[in-house]
Amino acid sequence: MQPISSKLAGQTAIVTGASSGIGKACAIGMGLAGANVVVNYAGNSQGAEEAVAIIQEAGGQAIAYKVDVSKQDQVKAMFKMAIETFGTVDILVNNAGLQKDAPFIDMSLEDWQFVLDVNLTGQFLCAQEAVREFNRRGMRPEVSRSLGKIICMSSVHELIPWAGHVNYAASKGGVMLLMRSLAQELGPMKIRVNSVAPGAIKTPINRMAWETPEAEERLLKLIPYKRVGETSDISNVCCWLASDESDYIHGATLFVDGGMTLYPGFEDNG
Ligand code: BGC
Repeated sequence: MQPISSKLAGQTAIVTGASSGIGKACAIGMGLAGANVVVNYAGNSQGAEEAVAIIQEAGGQAIAYKVDVSKQDQVKAMFKMAIETFGTVDILVNNAGLQKDAPFIDMSLEDWQFVLDVNLTGQFLCAQEAVREFNRRGMRPEVSRSLGKIICMSSVHELIPWAGHVNYAASKGGVMLLMRSLAQELGPMKIRVNSVAPGAIKTPINRMAWETPEAEERLLKLIPYKRVGETSDISNVCCWLASDESDYIHGATLFVDGGMTLYPGFEDNG
């Protein structure tokens, strides 16, 4: 078991969609960096409890909490619980997201709406509650140089168009300007807002793209660094982005993608 570090000591993080994949790794990473963690999940209580157990076994504090991030009353309840339990919230990792893929011509309005609701409206609702709490609590210079940190989980598909996934790509394009506009508006309040844009990371969301050697070989054609990402590649960056070590990074999208956004199709073409 990794020992607790003090990088985020005295701070509380809410990580949405933290029962699997990138969110789970971020929750564990922040817990091991000394933060109290609210491990939010929508359905998979077992995955969330696993993250809580790992943090607690290392001597940290964490609590699992079920919330659909696209529902305002539920999001408000989660922040209330976090404040009652841990005193305040310092860090929001707006991670909850999903895919409902279909060719454009067949995509149902329900699947369009569902993905936008969770991936984009969910980030809006959680960020709004976070900002309200940051302002209520006020500055604590002994804890952090900023009033609070918001990390939006985006994707390389905030930039790369994605046929067959227009709902997902539109949601991440929306996250890009949500994050940048929030950063412009909230910077003067000393609230730091950034995005992390993962490429292909081995998680349940894209299992089909890396599960077999043939699929992985195909996927690697899109990754100049020739490695499919691990969830720790993202959680390490998120923990750093939540800490004062990155205090001057504001309004940025950090692509963590092994070079997927470098147009690898042009390597021997064009
Ligand atoms: C998607 C994955 C995909 C990756 C790279 C992510 O945002 O959720 O399914 O493998 O982008 O295309």
